[in-house]
Amino acid sequence: MQDKIKTLNDKIAEAHLGGGIKRIAKQHSNKKLTARERIDYLMDEGSFEEIGMLVTHRTTDFGMENEMYYGDGVITGYGTINGRLVYIFAQDFTVFGGSLSETHAEKICKIMDMAVKMGAPMIGLNDSGGARIQEGVRSLGGYADIFYRNVQASGVIPQISAIMGPCAGGAVYSPAMTDFTMMVEDTSYMFVTGPNVVKTVTNESVTSEELGGAGTHSAKSGVAHCTSANDLVCLEDLKRLLGYLPQNNREKPNNLPYELKDEIRDELANIIPDNPNKPYDMHSVICGIIDEDSFFEIHKNYAENILVGFARLGGRSIGIVANQPMFLAGCLDVNSSKKAARFTRFCDAFNIPLLVLVDVPGFLPGTDQEWNGIIVHGAKLLYALSEATVPRVTVITRKAYGGAYDVMNSKHIGADMNFAWPSAEIAVMGAKGASEIIFKKEIHEAEDHEAKLLEKEAEYADLFANPYTAAQRGFIDEVILPQDTRRKLIKAFSMLENKASVVPNRKHGNIPL
Ligand code: COA
Repeated sequence: MQDKIKTLNDKIAEAHLGGGIKRIAKQHSNKKLTARERIDYLMDEGSFEEIGMLVTHRTTDFGMENEMYYGDGVITGYGTINGRLVYIFAQDFTVFGGSLSETHAEKICKIMDMAVKMGAPMIGLNDSGGARIQEGVRSLGGYADIFYRNVQASGVIPQISAIMGPCAGGAVYSPAMTDFTMMVEDTSYMFVTGPNVVKTVTNESVTSEELGGAGTHSAKSGVAHCTSANDLVCLEDLKRLLGYLPQNNREKPNNLPYELKDEIRDELANIIPDNPNKPYDMHSVICGIIDEDSFFEIHKNYAENILVGFARLGGRSIGIVANQPMFLAGCLDVNSSKKAARFTRFCDAFNIPLLVLVDVPGFLPGTDQEWNGIIVHGAKLLYALSEATVPRVTVITRKAYGGAYDVMNSKHIGADMNFAWPSAEIAVMGAKGASEIIFKKEIHEAEDHEAKLLEKEAEYADLFANPYTAAQRGFIDEVILPQDTRRKLIKAFSMLENKASVVPNRKHGNIPL
């Protein structure tokens, strides 16, 4: 028996070495942790249990039968993060560059299936040279097996991808179909075709970092939801993100213990400038409302004219969608509509209540927006909010103009509670633009055009640049004091806790894509 135990221990020791000491040193010199180090850091101490440690590939082409490594370039298993069950795979770059073989894919699929059966989040730590070149189509089949499972698991369990090295070619589509893609700055990149192919096909010269680094995907493409300075920060961010999410779509996120305190936040009364054209930072409204330091922003550097992210409000996990007047005056455009729609759908799929903060002068005008399909992209947000059945609460802090008023979680599209601050202006458009149109003749005929315009503008503003007309109609449930917003929202979300909605019987809707 002792011999047999030794054999097993030798195999385990070999598996733990991955591609060997030299390649581990190279991984470290590239400022990356190994797959095992990442798992150890992420999971609760001693909680990780590996599945498939002794799997090897089955390829015999190109002399591959002489090069076998236990685990075949991916470590898979389960464990806990802050006491909660999760399933994980971590690609091991020290073994064939973490490339994906048929068996590597089988290991990932096995735990994805388990994650769905057990209703627990699935985490993928990606660090891979892509398809195992020696395996050809078997590797491509392996990818497709994973993609298919990503889709089947979508909306059932949270799926989070961290890109911690290369992720190229077909490999990019699994992260793209998960709920969140996190990237490590400087050491990770994602692209469908690399710089060499780009040069050949389009004659563009571009580095990997420019083409698909964390900066590019967080600010330009929106592929990355968050970026982190290094591996450790990324894993910490992942843990934090997970904290806001439930285990699966049948559960609600857990509520943190919460004491009634600091409900009145005076600072909220001093944020909106007197001049309606002056911007302010919507982050200060969010921070004024939520539990201290609890905002986890998603897509921080992308489409900054809208803010989305998770927060705690009285201990409850909520999703926030908020116009940001600091960028493009908070207008809705193509990218911000897509960003907010995707976030809204995630929250709805996983029972996370939504708070929508509104200061929107309308949709961004211009040929660029029209030609890029603002009509269809703006419709995404309208659709996503209209179909969301989670508790939905709106606060209009300032402007709510035109069609964008409807889109931003208005009463008419099913919001449960709609509040407005006294500074709210709910109208078809701003007073100046409106007066120029409806009083055109009078202004034109007046001796002093400018004075007449100002007079008419004031008249229009008096009538519509306030929340009271909307409140009279019941489109606003209550006009509230800014400093009382937190208290009102805690009570509203608590009242809405057991909201039940009847949804139409259909296979699925047809969101404008
Ligand atoms: N299939 C099989 N082995 C691969 C591989 C792949 N797709 N990608 C990398 N490897 C192996 C390398 O042969 C090397 O093996 P070794 O340790 O025995 O020398 C090891 O992984 C590390 O790769 P290396 O090229 O030395 O690392 P790098 O950090 O300099 O470069 C990449 C990383 C990903 C840029 C580079 O390996 C690469 O371009 N790989 C191919 C990417 C690709 O085209 N994939 C197929 C399309 S999806």
